[in-house]
Amino acid sequence: MAQALGIDIGGTGIKGAIVDTTTGELLSERLKLPTPDGGEPDAIVQTVIELIAQLGDGTKGLPVGVTFPAIVKNGRTMSAANVSSKWIGLEAEKLFENALGREIHFINDADAAGIAEARYGAAKGVAGLVLLTTLGTGIGSALIYNGVLIPNAELGHIQIGGKDAEKRASYAAKEREHLSWKSWADRLQKYYTHLEFLFSPDLFIVGGGVSKSYQEFLPLLKLNTPIVPATLRNNAGILGAAELAVSK
Ligand code: BGC
Repeated sequence: MAQALGIDIGGTGIKGAIVDTTTGELLSERLKLPTPDGGEPDAIVQTVIELIAQLGDGTKGLPVGVTFPAIVKNGRTMSAANVSSKWIGLEAEKLFENALGREIHFINDADAAGIAEARYGAAKGVAGLVLLTTLGTGIGSALIYNGVLIPNAELGHIQIGGKDAEKRASYAAKEREHLSWKSWADRLQKYYTHLEFLFSPDLFIVGGGVSKSYQEFLPLLKLNTPIVPATLRNNAGILGAAELAVSK
């Protein structure tokens, strides 16, 4: 059995758990702390330290994977849609390593979810192009071709009707604008139709916390591509981070 600590930093919450990366099962409780308002680097790092402390002694010596809701290139965060702009260009991987006093493996949150779905979930064994989107505070995306991740796809920021897609169609947009499932599904329809035209995927996977309510909105979508909920729901980021930490 291989174990790792997975930490999933999102625009709204920071989650963590100890994972058995052989089976994809959680070996500890899954803890969640709110992402500090403003999403400043120091405050987020402190919250991660607090989360690891709360997970207890079982985390000691384990490989650590950390996800972040931004472009992650060579250990630097290169964008900041739902966190402080101070992250842009920051050597974030080093920042976490120095603060935690241990090596980490650092990856975009949706890419981590993609790795997890490919290894343990809905993308497992699927040939061709799988396009995973996470509908949360923003829209994250992962492209997986024949099981291999193509990193840093930022398909939450394609323009639909002249507007950033995630501003219109994320789960946060549904909440912010008090949209019914039907009104939100109308926006998702436009979004996924456009992605389908651009990429001709073989499978869409829909993740994020709202994917547990998939029956409310997925049946309303009319697409040529099969669209299924993420098997791992909102744990995919934690699992993908842990898997990355063990496999790298
Ligand atoms: C960010 C992505 C991230 C997604 C989900 C988007 O706003 O640009 O990097 O994966 O939100 O958190």
